[in-house]
Amino acid sequence: MAGRRTEKDSDYFRVVDDAINSYTWAAVVKLQERGIIDDVLGPVGQGKEAKLVLARRRDGTHAALKIFYPVPVKFVKSRYGYVLGDPRFRGLKVRNYLHLVQVWCRKEFGNLSRAFRAGARVPEPYGFYRNVLAMRFVGSGTTPAPLLADVGLEGLDDPDSVLYEIVKSVERVYILGGLVHGDLSPFNVLYDGESPWIIDWGSAVRRGHPRELDYLRRDVERILEFFGSSIEPQRLLKRLVERGSWRGPIDVDEEGWLLIGGRRIVDD
Ligand SMILES: Nc1ncnc2c1ncn2[C@@H]1O[C@H](COP(=O)(O)OP(=O)(O)OP(=O)(O)O)[C@@H](O)[C@H]1O
Ligand SMILES: [Mg+2]
Repeated sequence: MAGRRTEKDSDYFRVVDDAINSYTWAAVVKLQERGIIDDVLGPVGQGKEAKLVLARRRDGTHAALKIFYPVPVKFVKSRYGYVLGDPRFRGLKVRNYLHLVQVWCRKEFGNLSRAFRAGARVPEPYGFYRNVLAMRFVGSGTTPAPLLADVGLEGLDDPDSVLYEIVKSVERVYILGGLVHGDLSPFNVLYDGESPWIIDWGSAVRRGHPRELDYLRRDVERILEFFGSSIEPQRLLKRLVERGSWRGPIDVDEEGWLLIGGRRIVDD
């Protein structure tokens, strides 16, 4: 907005900021009481919807705290549809913005947990409370791993293996976890110098969601495009869907690929 903030405005914003801080701080303390994290070390990154804060665990390893901003308007615009379209949240009474942020955080934690259990390359979820989600920190020392988008294709030692790891994860999450990420792109993949880590699971949808295939197609297209892959997106999509309806036993080979009818998804 043009113009200066008045004295009154700045008072108002200070009050709002303080409320946000104490609200978030109380959630962090809860995670400490539950033994999920120990010390809080400080902010290390920021996204459009959340701040990333580094914490230490009792065993000396690091945890990443994704702290969702409990800020209204933008959040509601971008997230309301996802939450309402999800059968798990049918009948939800949205009392206020803070409540919606909590729902979103719980949803991201649930999705991340499913993806993790399906054996995908995602940060292990540790726990959540209100608007704070604790998960494995991907990085070295206190520096977060860069995004695949920032590393670029030329920064990868072995692009094929990174692409394959992502395809493997997408398939596992879809077939074993029954989920589609929905916002998969090089901006939501971290690269630790060797392997990819898929993050930002808040917008994932369950299989059966009306837009399941649109999201899956978009996820597949964006990834194949980044890698300049010769794999046809439509073909990969078709295979995912076909393999998803398989009713027989699913084996796993020594490299972690699902074997359906004895074949990997990338076999000819
Ligand atoms: N587990 C993690 N370990 C290290 N860094 C992480 C981790 N999770 C997230 N980050 C960093 O924090 C940033 C924001 O995370 P994320 O993409 O989940 O949040 P967001 O606010 O929803 O993002 P966006 O800006 O895409 O909307 C990421 O770009 C990444 O740099
Ligand atoms: Mg993101």
